[in-house]
Parts: sequence; structure tokens; C-alpha cells
Amino acid sequence: MLKPVIGFRAATHADAGFAAATSTAAEPKHPQVAEELLEKWTKSEAGSAVRRFIVQESGVDRCWISLIQPRDVGGLTTYLNLLIPPASQHLIPAAIVFGEGQAREMGASVLICQVGEDSHQAVEWLRGHDWTQERKQRFWRLDLGVNADRIRELRSAAHKRIDTTDVVLRTVADLGGEAFLRRLHPVSHATVADIPMSVEYIPEPYEEWVVWMQPPAVLPERIWVAVLAAQPIGYSYLAYHPSSVWTGFTGVLREHRGKGFARALKLETLVQAIDLGVNAVETDNDSENAPILHLNEELGYEEMPGKLEFHRKLT
Ligand SMILES: CC(C)(COP(=O)(O)OP(=O)(O)OC[C@H]1O[C@@H](n2cnc3c(N)ncnc32)[C@H](O)[C@@H]1OP(=O)(O)O)[C@@H](O)C(=O)NCCC(=O)NCCS
Repeated sequence: MLKPVIGFRAATHADAGFAAATSTAAEPKHPQVAEELLEKWTKSEAGSAVRRFIVQESGVDRCWISLIQPRDVGGLTTYLNLLIPPASQHLIPAAIVFGEGQAREMGASVLICQVGEDSHQAVEWLRGHDWTQERKQRFWRLDLGVNADRIRELRSAAHKRIDTTDVVLRTVADLGGEAFLRRLHPVSHATVADIPMSVEYIPEPYEEWVVWMQPPAVLPERIWVAVLAAQPIGYSYLAYHPSSVWTGFTGVLREHRGKGFARALKLETLVQAIDLGVNAVETDNDSENAPILHLNEELGYEEMPGKLEFHRKLT
């Protein structure tokens, strides 16, 4: 019998429906819809160098991969995303080798591949082929039905603590709308830099950062800001996607940490999600980010399978 021929063709926007369906089959706990994927391709990934490919077997589309080279990471570091459903796991080695070749063409010094810790085939292949596991990203889900009353009580307690300080919590809508985001940008830089990571963080210009903070996923009334003496000192937000709702990044300036501001900001987004009728919210964090892991556990988030981050030096 002839061996099936594995091929790769560049993906176009017309492939978004196929890509969403295969992403959902690959990661059923993170379902995707075509409009959400297109939004990501055309907006949040627009500031990165990107190559996307459909993986074919004997001319039939099976799954897809992408190479993303963001500008906020040093050394032309490139991420290889594998969207390969269980039925196509035998394509993993060819997809990774092809991705490495593409990353070399893109000038990458390091290629990073995050795979589900329960994707045993991918994990074993990477471990056996000169990839090093550098980090683990932990994923969490908070059921807002079961936890609604408890979350409201925690928010009242957090408010009482904030009331003993000069800090107030406001939304970006209260603070003047989108124009205020320019003032949050430096807070983002100062706090993202403190996330445990194995790559060099290069602060992005405002125009590239702001695409993560805009409709349809993020609205000014869903970005909560801690304000001290008219200055933003921290923020947290709710990102509303068609397939899932996420509690987005939370950051508090170093000199104001340990006073309950992150807890209070996050609780505002959670009560807002409950009031919006959201069933559950998700989030993910680096496994060495002790303060936010502690907060998520305290707030009642339940852990889901995480992702292992493998690195391969290309130069
Ligand atoms: C994570 C972060 C937002 C927390 O801000 P904060 O205002 O200090 O948080 P809070 O004071 O509300 O709560 C921090 C909690 O973590 C606990 N904590 C702090 N350091 C800890 C550690 N090393 N191990 C375990 N728990 C720790 C604190 O005791 C506190 O818990 P408590 O309220 O039960 O006492 C802040 O550290 C930050 O901006 N980090 C950089 C950005 C980041 O990593 N964001 C999270 C990724 S989304």
C-alpha cells in the first residue's frame, strides 16, 4: 500500500471555518468559532510576523499549524502552534519538522511549542527530539453558577479592605473611555515584565498593545482600574469571546502590591460576569506565578489540564 503523502499549503481567511472546527476537535475544552479566529488573525496577530498552513494527507485537509513571531519578544522568538485533532496525531512529527524549517526561514533564534500536558504523543516526540521543557502554563475555570454567592461575599470583603486606603476602583468607561487606555499602557509594561517567562520581554508600542483591549472582546466598561491620586496603579479586565469568557490580564504596580488591589479588581470582573449571566470564566497562568495562582485558588477556580512549553534553539 502506498504511504500517504503529507503536504502543507498556506492557509487563507477562507480556511477559518475549517481551522475553527479542527481547533475545537484538537482542544474540545477551548472551542473556537470562525468569526473569533478571523478576529484573532486580522487584529491581535496583525502586529506579528505570521505563517499559517493547512496540513494535508494525500491532498486532503486534516489540521493546521501556525508560526507566530510577536514583536514583544526578543531574538525573533517564534511560536509554533499545533492544532492537530486526536485522529491526526500521526501528523505531529511532520508538522513540527516543517514548522522548524519555516521558523528558520523567518530568522527565529528560538522556536517555542506549547502542547497540552495530556497530548502524550506530542510531548513524547518533543522530549525525544532535542526540545527542552522550559515552563508550564496552568489553565483554570471558575463556575460562576455554583460560586456566585461566595464571589459576591468576597467582593464585599475586598471592598471593605480597599475602603481603608485612598485607592478607588473605576472602569475605563468611568475614566473617560478609550482615551484612558493610553494611561494604562505604561502600567501594562511595568507589570507584564514581572510575569515569570523564559524569553526577553520587549514592551510593544501602544498601537499593538491596544488591539488586545478593544471591542468586540473587551469593552471600556469591563476594564477595571485601581486609581490612586488620579493615577492608574493596576487593572484587570473581562474578555468576552463568542466561545468563552476570560478574566484577562491582572497587573498591579510593584510598589502597591500585597494590599489586596488585584483581588479586589478581579472580584469586580467576576461579579460583572455573574451579572452578565456568564456561566463560567477561564484564565491561564505561568506555573511559577505564585501570587496570581494563590488568588485563583482562593477565588475557587478549578484546574484543567495545562500546557507544557518546549523550546528549541535554532541558532
Ligand atoms: C499578580 C499581581 C497582580 C498581584 O497583585 P497584588 O495587588 O499584590 O495582589 P493582592 O494583594 O490582591 O493578592 C496577592 C495574594 O498573593 C499572595 N502572595 C504574594 N506572594 C506570594 C507568594 N510568593 N506565594 C504565595 N502567595 C503569595 C498574597 O499573600 C495575597 O494573598 P492574600 O490576599 O490571601 O493574602 C501582581 O503581583 C502583579 O502585577 N504581577 C505581575 C503581573 C502578573 O503576573 N499578573 C498575573 C498574570 S495574569
